[in-house]
Amino acid sequence: MTGRVLEALKRLEYRGYDSAGIATIDQGKITLRRSQGKLGNLDALLAKEPLHGHIGIGHTRWATHGVPSEANAHPHATQDVAVVHNGIIENFGEIRDELKAKGYVFKSQTDTEVIPTLITDWMAQGKSPQEAVAETLKRLHGAFAIGAVFTGHDELLIAARRGSPLAIGIGEDEHCIGSDAVALAPLTRQICYLAEGDMAVLSPSQYRIFDESGQEVQRDVKLTQLSGAAIGKGDFRHFMLKEIHEQPTVIGETLNVYAGDGKIHLPELPLAADKIARIQIVACGTSFYAGLVARYWLEQQARIPVDIDVASEFRYREPVMDPNTLMIAISQSGETADTLAAMQYAKAQGVATLAIVNVAESSMALQADGMLQTHAGPEIGVASTKAFTTQLALLALLALDLADKRNQTDKANIAALLHALAEVPAKLSEILHDDKEIEALANRISGVQHMLYIGRGVSYAMAYEAALKMKEISYIHAEAYAAGEMKHGPIALIDEQMPVVAIAPKDAWFDKTLSNVQEAAARGAQIVAVTDAAGAKAFDGMAKHYIICPSSHPFVAPILYAAPLQLLAYHTAVIKGTDVDQPRNLAKSVTVE
Ligand code: M6R
Repeated sequence: MTGRVLEALKRLEYRGYDSAGIATIDQGKITLRRSQGKLGNLDALLAKEPLHGHIGIGHTRWATHGVPSEANAHPHATQDVAVVHNGIIENFGEIRDELKAKGYVFKSQTDTEVIPTLITDWMAQGKSPQEAVAETLKRLHGAFAIGAVFTGHDELLIAARRGSPLAIGIGEDEHCIGSDAVALAPLTRQICYLAEGDMAVLSPSQYRIFDESGQEVQRDVKLTQLSGAAIGKGDFRHFMLKEIHEQPTVIGETLNVYAGDGKIHLPELPLAADKIARIQIVACGTSFYAGLVARYWLEQQARIPVDIDVASEFRYREPVMDPNTLMIAISQSGETADTLAAMQYAKAQGVATLAIVNVAESSMALQADGMLQTHAGPEIGVASTKAFTTQLALLALLALDLADKRNQTDKANIAALLHALAEVPAKLSEILHDDKEIEALANRISGVQHMLYIGRGVSYAMAYEAALKMKEISYIHAEAYAAGEMKHGPIALIDEQMPVVAIAPKDAWFDKTLSNVQEAAARGAQIVAVTDAAGAKAFDGMAKHYIICPSSHPFVAPILYAAPLQLLAYHTAVIKGTDVDQPRNLAKSVTVE
């Protein structure tokens, strides 16, 4: 049993890896093992002190309330019930105070511990486990998914969701639950997603689902396309490096799916092209930067006004939305809590939503009015690489498709840009083929404390993405600025120790970027020019280091330039000895606000 739970947790470790735990019911009693740090520590603990039983729950944590420690690791248990929880209980403070006043003692700093304690309190008042969970759910505010097992019940598992996703796996004479169907894929392909507010009661022979009002309901069972096969690193040292190298293939695949015959065939959008008055993009992190690039493409090619917000801020500015807006939510995982909440805000305003996601069965894909899938394949490294460039490839196609449908451009321009896109995989392979110079450059910069990335136009958006890559895996403080903004403040930071990475393909903005680079160089900055052969010539020796990319149509430069910037961050992190695939404090999928 614990081997299978552990296996499922390995497939969920991308969600958090600061502590982990498993609880089983062994001859009616709750047994528990938890450990701080990655799953490997729990694995080692279980090897020394195995758990037994036919039913179990497990959890791998990304700390929200309380430090990463064994005491704060899930499951949290009382003498009656053990609980795992994904999400946040916003009113835990008030519930904990009430329960303390009743004499309950808390052993952790987590918000989660109020859940088993409340369930216990209800059971002490004579409620059955199912009734006690239902009563407890009524008290909880926030977004969460939970799983619970009970003392004296060797075959009972209760699960519930509000805000956070939860899937039931339907096996042969067994049922299981997971925050993500990916965890269940080796066990079964039959998946039933709980709807908002549902509670499920599972035993090996059956599962029953109750909606928020307590009515028993049926939910669809789907056959998942997710593979149960383990995902390996192949010959690569890290998942991130493998995923960087997969980019020519997966970009080719994404282009092939939607424009294989040289014409664009995107599925029908939830709002017809000629009805779109505005586009509102929402996303977080790297997906947000893909959106920033796409804003240029959508405005320049399709001539549609585009607003873009980081999803965590969007709903709080209470935006006034034109009903003819198309919201585009961009996400690798399709599970990012803030992006989901932004989508829900738009839906409540009657605005059509389009999800651009890498996981076709994700919450965003299920909740949006329309979905376009990037075909990056599973991305395991926490730092997003191939998901980003496939998002760009797909967004480029979307911009061209809208330009065509709205008669904003001629067929020749579309054909030329599609041709430029089709050349990207081969040009990327060229960049990836030999990264010795990038590695040598990484060696030189690995000792610095601070870096600046600058660019104009789409390269301004790329500067943000490149700086994010550098800071999240190498822990170097890297800031991005629009090149033209340097003289409005940040130029004060520049001295001889400061590498300034100028992202400057020979495009329409090049000359202006070069002037800004000159201003930085005049103040002693070590300039790293990321450019093409024509650009390098124009730099005329001004940069200390050059990363030369193959010449390309400026339209596709962001997709090409992503790779050397990813490699620079990667090699710097390797030289610094950081945990490249699972950097400190991060999680792959951020399912809390
Ligand atoms: O799954 P999503 O694309 O919604 O995730 C958004 C961000 O959390 C993600 O891009 C994050 O910034 C990555 N660590 C960047 O490499």
